[in-house]
Amino acid sequence: MHIQKNLFKVRVWDLPTRLFHWSLVAGVIGLAISGLMGGNAMVWHFRFGYAVLSLLLFRVVWGLVGGRWSRFGAFIYAPTSVINYLKGRGKPEHSVGHSPIGAASVFAVLGLLLAQAGTGLLSDDEIAASGPLTRFVSNAMVNLATNYHKNIGKWLLLALVVLHIGAILFYLWRKHNLVKPMLSGDKDLALAAPSSRDDALSRAGALLVWVLCAALVAWMASLAA
Ligand code: HEM
Ligand code: HEM
Repeated sequence: MHIQKNLFKVRVWDLPTRLFHWSLVAGVIGLAISGLMGGNAMVWHFRFGYAVLSLLLFRVVWGLVGGRWSRFGAFIYAPTSVINYLKGRGKPEHSVGHSPIGAASVFAVLGLLLAQAGTGLLSDDEIAASGPLTRFVSNAMVNLATNYHKNIGKWLLLALVVLHIGAILFYLWRKHNLVKPMLSGDKDLALAAPSSRDDALSRAGALLVWVLCAALVAWMASLAA
């Protein structure tokens, strides 16, 4: 932590969290395009789907063992904190990691993405594309999952992503740039706060966690008939 013009430079988003975020953005864009195109593009939909699922599983583990401000424990707030924050009575420490309202949207986005990827594994377009786990469940279950994946989940996700980008733009308009820290990792804060661990060892640990998550997903993909 270096002191600079009375501001404290704090590593908020460790490299694994930043790589996770921007890879997720690329993956979700690829999924939306390939999903809507259908047909031959479904091969890519599955590839992007497996990649995004491995990222999501990584993020769940990183939420337990990752850098300080990436841990779920650092942004699980009581409902009263969310209400106070919205009323403009936030605490200074809310500006370090995810704010109370930002945290709610992070959990919602992660949860909906997991539901989308999970139902994708069980979806079947009744033409050629069939998720790898469809053969282990009943037709009724496949229909339910496909209906959620096609008609419900994708709209909920679209709404949340629009809200997410809208919120980022709103903060930008209020002269609060949240994008820069998601690129560089650092925030210049008025209060001293501990940095997230982001050394070579923890980065190597993150890589190992992601490789294990990817191996789990590759195994699920291999279960396709
Ligand atoms: C498909 C689109 C997107 C998805 C699914 C998405 C998802 C997420 C998730 C899950 C987080 C939480 C990060 C974590 O703690 O792991 C996050 C945070 C963030 N995202 Fe996105 N994102 C998307 C697009 C974007 C875009 C286009 C931008 C900026 C131009 C952006 C900027 C940010 C920023 C600045 C944060 C940190 C917010 C904070 O400080 O609390 N995101 N996003
Ligand atoms: C977060 C990840 C995912 C997103 C955002 C996503 C999004 C979409 C979208 C937008 C569609 C087109 C729906 C329509 O026809 O209007 C679609 C269809 C489909 N997706 Fe995904 N998907 C994801 C993950 C997966 C995964 C992991 C799989 C399987 C391994 C999968 C399998 C399918 C199948 C089989 C369809 C065709 C459903 C049908 O037309 O009946 N998806 N997805």
